[in-house]
Amino acid sequence: MGTITVTASGKDGVGKSTLSVFIGASLASISGKVLVIELDSGQRSIDIVSGTYGKLIYDINDVLSGKIEPAKAIVESPVAKGLFVLSAPFIQSSLSIDEFFKLVSSLGEEYNHVIIDSASSMGAMFAACSCAMNALLVTTADPAGIREANSARDRLIENSVFDIRLIINRLVPSRITSGIFPDLDFVIDSIGSRLIGVVPESDDIAAASSGILALPRSSKSKKIFDNIAKRMLGEEIPLSVQ
Ligand SMILES: Nc1ncnc2c1ncn2[C@@H]1O[C@H](COP(=O)(O)OP(=O)(O)O)[C@@H](O)[C@H]1O
Ligand SMILES: [Mg+2]
Repeated sequence: MGTITVTASGKDGVGKSTLSVFIGASLASISGKVLVIELDSGQRSIDIVSGTYGKLIYDINDVLSGKIEPAKAIVESPVAKGLFVLSAPFIQSSLSIDEFFKLVSSLGEEYNHVIIDSASSMGAMFAACSCAMNALLVTTADPAGIREANSARDRLIENSVFDIRLIINRLVPSRITSGIFPDLDFVIDSIGSRLIGVVPESDDIAAASSGILALPRSSKSKKIFDNIAKRMLGEEIPLSVQ
């Protein structure tokens, strides 16, 4: 059985989908097949970030309704070998938690890692938590982001996901040194989850998540995602904030 991880956040737009794909790509290059399932109908982006735009004909609702087999809806990313994606439907509709749980459990037999790219809505979070063994909680370092991340952490725990690792994304170090944002120790202490990575605001990531370019292999961002993936797999890699 593969590991099932939910990517969660208190608010949308903090980088859940972007990080799900890039960390998923790193996991795939280290440990084999990875599936990213997108649950955020409101802000679909997984197809763009993974380079599968125009290739994803079916979505998770088509699978859950029994219209087609999962294999028909799941597409491999052309830019990251071993990374597969299953997209959210265009139109939000209620999700059967039981059916979702059954689907993810069966896909967990086929993939080494399943990442559920959640949404901040309660329904999506509840569905994702019903299957997840652990969570990546994504936040930005601004005060409102920290407050929302705190509530997301509470919701994960209420839904019995206790193994929560924190990722601080879109960090602009000068905003910390200038005192605009609180320092990282404060962020970690406020949210109370173990930090697994700090990802800077980066043009490489913005370009790659627009589906224009692959993340350069030699880039600092790629190294950061590889290190997060290795820590998820249990490697002890010291954290550094560049
Ligand atoms: N570290 C980063 N550096 C630059 N841009 C980023 C970074 N992380 C996310 N983004 C950008 O932020 C926007 C929102 O990210 P997204 O992953 O869609 O958020 P969410 O899934 O949480 O709603 C996207 O346009 C993405 O390109
Ligand atoms: Mg998203």
